[in-house]
Amino acid sequence: MSVDPQSGSPVDRFRRLRRTEALRRLVRETRLSPEELVYPLFVVGGQGVRNAIPSMPGQSQLSLDQLPAEAAELRALGIPAVLLFGIPSTKDEQGSGAYAADGIVQQAVRALKQADPDLLVITDVCLCEYTSHGHCGVVKDGEVDNDATLPLLTRTALSQAQAGADMVAPSAMMDGQVAAIRQALDEGGSPHTPIMAYAAKYASAFYGPFREAAESAPQFGDRRGYQMDPPNAREALREIEADIAEGADIVMVKPALAYLDVLARARERFDLPLAAYNVSGEYAMIKAAAANGWLDERRVTLEVLTAIKRAGADIIITYHAKEAARWLQSPS
Ligand code: PBG
Repeated sequence: MSVDPQSGSPVDRFRRLRRTEALRRLVRETRLSPEELVYPLFVVGGQGVRNAIPSMPGQSQLSLDQLPAEAAELRALGIPAVLLFGIPSTKDEQGSGAYAADGIVQQAVRALKQADPDLLVITDVCLCEYTSHGHCGVVKDGEVDNDATLPLLTRTALSQAQAGADMVAPSAMMDGQVAAIRQALDEGGSPHTPIMAYAAKYASAFYGPFREAAESAPQFGDRRGYQMDPPNAREALREIEADIAEGADIVMVKPALAYLDVLARARERFDLPLAAYNVSGEYAMIKAAAANGWLDERRVTLEVLTAIKRAGADIIITYHAKEAARWLQSPS
């Protein structure tokens, strides 16, 4: 009973624990820390390149020589990991730049591991940045061919592991990709390399800015034939279950904000570490509103990241990582 029948006054005084910041901090249920953040990086060829990405204010395409300074900055902020995306100088039908021994991502892995061996370097395993048509797999008769794509994804993952990647993250949404990659890593001398599977990855309009950043927009059609249909949540649980059965070490839900229900259901159902990808469009929305003075950027950003954590994410991949780490170091 929340009201005293005698006096008519409330019994539950929730406000007692809300009166001061010290009290609020003491009873806080969800705490955000830089240790659980992963920072995505876009790597390009050339020297001294820092190409600002217009739709993602604060983010840039970086050339290899910029990476050691980036690693040092992340270390100083307490951010343990990066997720690498490469923009190759040439593209072809088979996306061969994705699995070239001296591909842009393979070189970036070496540069980062040399600069800071303790930095966790995670690589995105997909073909879309490397194919001339911009799809995540091999195109046959106007469609992405699932099984013909698997060997190219396994070559990509193995070449990244051989370059020194600490973890590979397949994002192409081909059926069976996790099992194929697990087998290739085990047989190829990288049995200790974990797989973070983009298990429930939706065909989302929130990837728009990323495609500008990674120069990976499909040249015809869209990705709805392989990425998940946004209205489906039960199917996401089946996707995650399948990836776990195939050998995933970490599973992911992507995007994050419009899919917090999926994240929460995945948290309930599965005990593997769970990652959420706070994608480019989610970042761009906050930046745009903040630039107009419509939102308090710092508070909104930390509120969003906290919500993703509260919904159940152990790991948050976010373009906000650096600013969030700075804000968390100096709580206001
Ligand atoms: C595919 C990939 C994409 C993102 C991460 N990996 C784009 C896509 O599927 O089109 C999107 C990330 C973001 O929007 O921040 N390799």
